[in-house]
Amino acid sequence: HSILVVNGPNLNLLGVREPQIYGHTSLKDLENHLKDVAKELDVDIECYQSNSEGDIVTKIQDSRLNKDFVLINAGAYTHTSVAIRDALTGVDLPFYEIHISNVHRREEFRHHSYLSDVAVGVIAGFGLNGYEYALRSAVDFLGRNR
Ligand code: DQA
Repeated sequence: HSILVVNGPNLNLLGVREPQIYGHTSLKDLENHLKDVAKELDVDIECYQSNSEGDIVTKIQDSRLNKDFVLINAGAYTHTSVAIRDALTGVDLPFYEIHISNVHRREEFRHHSYLSDVAVGVIAGFGLNGYEYALRSAVDFLGRNR
């Protein structure tokens, strides 16, 4: 199995940006940790980050034939992007929507997501651990739906 991990805009600043909300760990350290977990679970993962909506759409399109599952933290595009939603439904890959923070206890504009109603699941408010939980759950999902 092969899993794509997508981090959207501003998540390259993890560890630096609003650490009281997003923690002190860098994106590189997060990705390295996920790669270790993937090794333990015996799945391939590819980690991708972009600040650009179009590049994220293209990356999702390009994953149609060589990935089985997507973990995506689309950052602020979660709340704005019909294009990322359409890419995910277009490739018909199952995905989990991830948020580091609990978006539901933050500003009103973060309460709506263009992704949630087409996601297999949503994880929010578990900090960076959410990525590992999502990865482990994705592997369970793929085992059940082979
Ligand atoms: C976020 C929440 C979004 O509202 C915000 O724009 C982000 C990060 C999170 O991981 O908590 O960039 O997706």
